[in-house]
Amino acid sequence: MSTVWGTRDVEAAAQRGATLRLGPGDVLTPLARDRARELGVTIASADAADRPAAPPPPSSGTTDRTPPGSTSATTPATRRPGRGHPRPSPATPPVPALPTGTGGPVRSMHPPSGALFRRGAPLPSGLASPAPHGGGATGRVVVVGAGHVGMIAAMRLADADVFDELVLVDVDEGRAAGIALDLQHTAALADFATRVRGVATVAEAGPADYVVITAGRPRRPGMSRADLVSTNAEIVGGLARSVAATSPHAVVVVVTNPLDEMTQHAWVCSGFPSGRVVGMAGVLDTARFQALVALEGTGRAGAVEAIALGSHGEEMVIPLSRARAGGRALAGQVPAERLSAVVDRARGSGAEVVGLLRSGSAFLAPGTSAARMVLAMVRETGEVMSAAVLADGTYGISDVYLGLPVRLGRHGLREIVALDLSAAELTALREAGERIRKRVGSMARAS
Ligand code: LAC
Repeated sequence: MSTVWGTRDVEAAAQRGATLRLGPGDVLTPLARDRARELGVTIASADAADRPAAPPPPSSGTTDRTPPGSTSATTPATRRPGRGHPRPSPATPPVPALPTGTGGPVRSMHPPSGALFRRGAPLPSGLASPAPHGGGATGRVVVVGAGHVGMIAAMRLADADVFDELVLVDVDEGRAAGIALDLQHTAALADFATRVRGVATVAEAGPADYVVITAGRPRRPGMSRADLVSTNAEIVGGLARSVAATSPHAVVVVVTNPLDEMTQHAWVCSGFPSGRVVGMAGVLDTARFQALVALEGTGRAGAVEAIALGSHGEEMVIPLSRARAGGRALAGQVPAERLSAVVDRARGSGAEVVGLLRSGSAFLAPGTSAARMVLAMVRETGEVMSAAVLADGTYGISDVYLGLPVRLGRHGLREIVALDLSAAELTALREAGERIRKRVGSMARAS
């Protein structure tokens, strides 16, 4: 059985001044690899040693809620000095229930798996031609990237039978068209009336109400996180500009990894109000936690009330103070050490699936999660779910994208919900915001 090594393992090795030795088949999470570089910890795998690189330079860049406007499309705006958002006031409305499963709230999605554009596909440099249409409501949803995640998202969206048209976009037009036709063939089986098309560009898809961006590259052996970030930033940035030109009123759901950073980048490049660019990760991470808790024998996964916040990665924060199963506190049902192991496993679930698949990353739960977010919007379910959104001062965090509890509506973010977190949970959430802010800053400097 392979072991998944996280940042905590790296930090423990750093404290011991030791090399972290991976056994055959073990998986080192991407953030753990970054942490090893930062701390100068040598990773020795069964196959090869991964020597630490120089630590990244310190960063301070961030974005503001104001659309980037005249700033460079790839460089987040500089934070205005002295600006801050108010902390949640005591008059905040009653804390809503956390998402629950069946028929209830959604859990989130995300991260850019490598599955979007198929591995090895050329960059979508020709995606930016403006459409002749004026935009506006069309009953159309567009899924960019006909990789596994896009395919599953498309299937869930078609099955929901709420859109007039669903368009799959992929630089490999044949793949997009082939999957679209294959999906269309299920219309009688799944009983939907949605028409499905596959095209090569966002412009050809036409104006949409919702655009799900799953396109991106997976990290390949030898590729640093920085390489992945710059490659996917180019893809996502270009797509965000194309979407803005073709669908000026759309809500964009970003799925590409690294999720929090890519969502912020898409917002900057689109020029959209921040409420119309959200990221899918929290729904996925919440769902994974629910599923794993249920495996501990607490009952159905859907009866687990929980929410995963923070980053889609090592800084994931699952507030156990609020977690319940069957209406009762989880703490009384699952021993503390098991619960802590479940949190760790949820945090490492993406890497665990990668380790098992050997090639590619998770797509069933990520694709389903992305569709779930779109459906919550179009159906106005009002459920509380976790999404990567631009922090507005709630939780004492501002001007950075991270996973927060939200309600979505037809036009995107309706509100960030103020949950009552423990002091430790709040600290962890703020730390997540700061770590993401640093990474966004590094990304802006590198561009
Ligand atoms: C995951 C990748 C897709 O969590 O981010 O599976």
